Amino acid sequence: MILPDLTATQALAARLASLARPGDALLLSGPLGAGKSALARAFLRALTGDPALEVPSPSYTLVQSYPLPGGGQAHHFDLYRLDGPADLQELGWEDALADIVLVEWPERLGGLTPPRALHVALRPIDEDARDVTLHGWEGRL
Ligand SMILES: Nc1ncnc2c1ncn2[C@@H]1O[C@H](COP(=O)(O)OP(=O)(O)O)[C@@H](O)[C@H]1O
Ligand SMILES: [Mg+2]
Repeated sequence: MILPDLTATQALAARLASLARPGDALLLSGPLGAGKSALARAFLRALTGDPALEVPSPSYTLVQSYPLPGGGQAHHFDLYRLDGPADLQELGWEDALADIVLVEWPERLGGLTPPRALHVALRPIDEDARDVTLHGWEGRL
């Protein structure tokens, strides 16, 4: 699909949030500036029901967790600086998979890539437009 502007990306994120349930993983790929964090921010705001939710970049902490109104949590990972699979275990990856997880730079997961994840690939077209490809969640989208 084409996302003509940031508002379109935010609307897609809100729709995905309405479909997400515990045990789901969304893998956000694309180059720097593609909009992975922008999509994650809108997703987490929709999921928590808090349009003003602060969603800092987890690029240094690698993971940021958010309690959800109905119970449970969502975890936003940015694996750009991940050193290896051992570090991922230390971040609580296995436990996080029982909740909702969003992953930027999912290529770093290697063999730990969740098998039933939704793959969201973003590609810049110009300053405001993005091409997005969704793969996974068969029968749910
Ligand atoms: N259609 C769009 N979707 C997502 N971001 C967009 C779009 N148009 C412009 N942008 C801008 O592009 C930038 C994307 O940055 P960011 O989400 O941090 O990228 P990434 O996490 O992929 O490196 C933001 O400044 C955002 O406002
Ligand atoms: Mg980012």
